[in-house]
Parts: sequence; structure tokens; C-alpha cells
Amino acid sequence: MEYVLVIAASYLIGSIPNGLIIGRNFYNIDLRQFGSKNIGATNAYRTLGPWPAFWVFLTDALKGVAGVLIGQYLGGTALAELAGGIGAITGHNWSVFLNFKGGRGVATGLGVIAMIAPKVTLVVFAVWAAIVYLTRYVSLASIVAAALVPISMWLLNVRQEFFYFGILAALFVIIRHRPNIERLLKGEEPKIRAGGKTAS
Ligand code: G3P
Repeated sequence: MEYVLVIAASYLIGSIPNGLIIGRNFYNIDLRQFGSKNIGATNAYRTLGPWPAFWVFLTDALKGVAGVLIGQYLGGTALAELAGGIGAITGHNWSVFLNFKGGRGVATGLGVIAMIAPKVTLVVFAVWAAIVYLTRYVSLASIVAAALVPISMWLLNVRQEFFYFGILAALFVIIRHRPNIERLLKGEEPKIRAGGKTAS
């Protein structure tokens, strides 16, 4: 029963579309109509600029943190924490408030991993930042960083349940990047530019 509660509560919190709320309420812009049409921090950066992107990233990451905390308080086991994390990422990617559409799960996933395996967060964030700096493709960086999550969990000997979660979270992120992968292969993926508000 606790697990049902954990998943339902974290899914609902994960479903809150922060990018959409921030864009609409503070900038009168619906992110789903601009750039990649994604509601995440990257498209907020591209469409609105660095500060809104920062807030979208932070609030989306906090949904992942909240999911794990819900698992901790309602379930009290590592599995319950993971159920909360998965609930939050699922809500973000397939939001009940957006007809089961949503984001890519990068920031929310990072929030979950920051809670369960902080060292892994540092490794994948460093690799993500290096790839963005070198290639200017945020999506490529996110895909590589996602794949690196279970690998670094394995190398850093995190507990087995977390490793399996890492595989699932990586798959979620990669599946949600399908449009980006298609554009990358065709050479049509837009690069990110300093200051945002330019590439789309
Ligand atoms: O975290 C999402 C990023 O990897 C790609 O975002 O807007 O370019 O599809 P976007």
C-alpha cells in the first residue's frame, strides 16, 4: 500500500510542468510553441534565456528530490525511494496535466540521482558539461550522461537496486530524446549558444 501512495504522490509532483508554468506566467510564452517545443530547461534557455532556464532546471530537479523524500517518509526503504524517484520522472515525462506528454527527464532524473548516489551526479554532470562545452549539443550531452549513469554506478559500487534504477532512468532519458537523436543523425539538431534566445 505504501508503494501505491509513494508512486501516486511522486507521479503527481513530477507531473507539475514547471517550464510551462514559468514560461506562461512570467514571460507569456508557451515553451511548447518555440524551439524544440520541449518544456525543459534547455528549451527555456533557448527561448527565454539563462535565468528562466536556471529556475526551470532547479524546480524540475527538486521534483526528483521530492520523489525520493516521499519514498523515504512513506516507505522508509531503498526500494520505496526508487519508486518515488521513478514516479517523479514518469510524471515529468508523461504528465497527467499535459495529456501524458512532457519533458525528457534529465533534470528530474538528476535530482533523484543526487539523492541516492551523489558521487555519480558529480561524474555525469562533469561529463555533460564537457560535452556541451565542446559540441554545443545539449541533447547529445544528456544522452551520453544518461548512458553513463548506470556505468558509473557500477564502477562506484552503488547498491544493486540503484544500479537497476540507473539503467531504467537512462532508458527513459534516451527514449525521450528520440526527436533529438533523429535531428542529430540528420545534422539538423540546433546548437546551444551563449546567452540563449538565439538558436531554435
Ligand atoms: O535536457 C533536455 C535536452 O537534452 C534537450 O532539450 O530542448 O534541445 O530538446 P531540447
